[in-house]
Amino acid sequence: MRIKKLLLATAATDSIEVRGWVRTLRAGKTVSFIELNDGSCLSSLQLVLNDELENYSLMAKMGTGACVRVCGNLVDSPAKGQRWELQVTAIEQIGAADSDYPLQKKRHSFEYLRSIAHLRPRSNAFGAVFRLRSALSFAVHQFFQQRDFLYVHTPIITASDCEGAGELFRVTTLDPLYPPTVKQGNSVGIDWNDDFFAAKTGLTVSGQLQGELFASAFSDIYTFGPTFRAENSNTSRHASEFWMIEPEIAFADLTADCNLAEEFLRYLVSYALEHCAEDLQFFNDRIEKGLIGKLTALVQSKFETMTYTEAVDQLHRSGQSFEYPVEWGADLQSEHERYLCEQVVNGPLFVVDYPKEIKAFYMRGNDDGKTVAAMDLLVPRVGEIIGGSQREERLDVLQARMVELGMSPKSLQWYLDIRRWGSCPHAGFGLGFERLLMYLSGMENIRDVIPFPRTPGHASF
Ligand code: 4AD
Ligand code: MG
Repeated sequence: MRIKKLLLATAATDSIEVRGWVRTLRAGKTVSFIELNDGSCLSSLQLVLNDELENYSLMAKMGTGACVRVCGNLVDSPAKGQRWELQVTAIEQIGAADSDYPLQKKRHSFEYLRSIAHLRPRSNAFGAVFRLRSALSFAVHQFFQQRDFLYVHTPIITASDCEGAGELFRVTTLDPLYPPTVKQGNSVGIDWNDDFFAAKTGLTVSGQLQGELFASAFSDIYTFGPTFRAENSNTSRHASEFWMIEPEIAFADLTADCNLAEEFLRYLVSYALEHCAEDLQFFNDRIEKGLIGKLTALVQSKFETMTYTEAVDQLHRSGQSFEYPVEWGADLQSEHERYLCEQVVNGPLFVVDYPKEIKAFYMRGNDDGKTVAAMDLLVPRVGEIIGGSQREERLDVLQARMVELGMSPKSLQWYLDIRRWGSCPHAGFGLGFERLLMYLSGMENIRDVIPFPRTPGHASF
């Protein structure tokens, strides 16, 4: 039986079998106590063992981290803070653990735990993080499936750089020492026609472009998959491999897009409060004081909205000195985003209508000719958690913009085609799944909400 279920028992029960890993062991001459955890919940099950067990001598040599199977009777616990304990009638050590086991009972730093990413799921904090991650993955699907969104698997290997930021990881089978070459004017370049896909390909930075194609057939769709970015920024909020959720909705403008994002985030937060209560309480006590209050407030609040131009104004008026200068036309930095949602509105904030120069080619141009119908959702502590926009559905405008940016419309003919045949206004956004988990758990480093994080210089495990 799993411990989570066992701890919910309403009456004492005999002959129960559980398996798990020893969190702590207090071995005595005649009585010993083990805290056993099987990952099903934060709480461990208290095992009480006495010297009537035929292999009681095992207690003297068993180590923290050992894997055991026990049988016993669930009885009221006299100990404080727990309802049940298991009076053990038989114990078997499935896998021993010697005294080198790195997760002995004491507080370890997150930095240290990262270096033992193969073992950290057995700690309280990471047990809670990865249960939250699993529960929220399910909630994402539930939200969209309940609303008749089609789940589409967009490709992981792609020849298009959706965001145009040149952050694609190259995918190739060419010999790195002797790649086939081709003459390009006066110089020589790699002949990608000779590569596996007969094209220059990489790992996807976003499934949006293909998502748009599907929205042009199924109306409402979403993707939820791994995303890769070779941006060499070593921050606490960027990973080279992360998961993104990208809904795309037809017949929608930027307001509808923001409304969907707000409803979605509120749903996910409510879901966590309801289904991950024990783990959230742990985060509230150990990681971010007041977390549950913050999340409960979000569920009830209406998100604020301000234009990029207003945001820049607010930052100018703040009298605050920022590391990066604030000027109209420059991208907002993390410090600016956090100031706006933490100091100005003290809650989630949509910033909309960004200058077109700092946003991707596909965003719909606003009538002012200077801004695009973009939105970022900023939340306290994390900053940008969602980025989205209304898409440019007007073929001539989109083509002109691509040419202006030096892109070749021919390379994205399939993308332009849906503007030729049955084009419709549509919009979408991307939620960074890890940023969501950071917000929900209070964990401050993205490396601590990913099972095996990939960041510049790190791909172990
Ligand atoms: O703002 P981004 O780059 O937007 C897009 O990729 C659009 N194609 C989305 C869309 O409209 N369908 O990324 C979206 C979100 C960000 O707001 C952030 O939460 C997350 O993805 N994100 C990252 N998360 C972790 N590590 C990184 N390197 C990230 N880059 C973006
Ligand atoms: Mg963005």
